[in-house]
Amino acid sequence: MTSPVASRPSPQTAGEIGGLSTVLLQITDTHLFASADTKHRGINTQASLDSVLVNAKADARWPPDAIVVTGDIVHDESQAGYERFRKTLESLGPPAFCIPGNHDDPAVLERYLAAPRVQVCGDTRLGAWRLILLNSFGNGEVAGALGTAELARMERVLEKHPGEHTLICMHHPPVAMGSAWLDNPGLRDAEPFMDLVRLHAQVRAVLWGHVHQELDRHADGVRLMSTPSTCAQFRPENDEFAEDNRPPGMRWLELNPNGGLTTEVLRVPGANPA
Ligand SMILES: [Fe+2]
Repeated sequence: MTSPVASRPSPQTAGEIGGLSTVLLQITDTHLFASADTKHRGINTQASLDSVLVNAKADARWPPDAIVVTGDIVHDESQAGYERFRKTLESLGPPAFCIPGNHDDPAVLERYLAAPRVQVCGDTRLGAWRLILLNSFGNGEVAGALGTAELARMERVLEKHPGEHTLICMHHPPVAMGSAWLDNPGLRDAEPFMDLVRLHAQVRAVLWGHVHQELDRHADGVRLMSTPSTCAQFRPENDEFAEDNRPPGMRWLELNPNGGLTTEVLRVPGANPA
């Protein structure tokens, strides 16, 4: 069952509303470990992340207004892994916004990652936009679940800020990716989540990680995007798990004050030497 779709106005043409765009950098699925030397799927995940960040810092868009990290941050859920990642984020400069993935421990993540410039979950205003960070950690299973409390929080934020273009970030995909092993199930409460999205016309885009691959599509006037991991990649549209040999990557987003959005995934060849 789906709810009625809200009347969703098209983004105004550039120039109708003045002001600067808000630039975001998304990195996801870093899969770090307590030791910076540990490999995951044959990849030194710290070295791969470092290469992605070197590439990001060389980009004309650097520094972004904010960095978003969409889960699976520390694969072994270690204090040392989260502390090292927090220091990395703090050294970059822009404020960072993080959410847990299925491979994280949300309590350990919150304890060792949260800092004055590193926010865990919650929501925030960025320029003309509202950023909502949802926790889809599903009690340690691979599938995600927002749960009634997180869905209610999402609804409260949307009801409180109806005039702000909104980007929702979480770890799990709210739509099918076309791979049975990722989709059955992907996010257990995807239907009530998408019902809320359809009911609130200010939601412009949903952004996630988890799937270690790029997706960019529209549904009900909403932009739906997933992003490559900073380490290993998964082969798209494969019903069984399979690795993909595409390079690690990141996503740049420019959130325009008129509600429009431009985005680009950049891959970093050679970032993940075994
Ligand atoms: Fe992951």
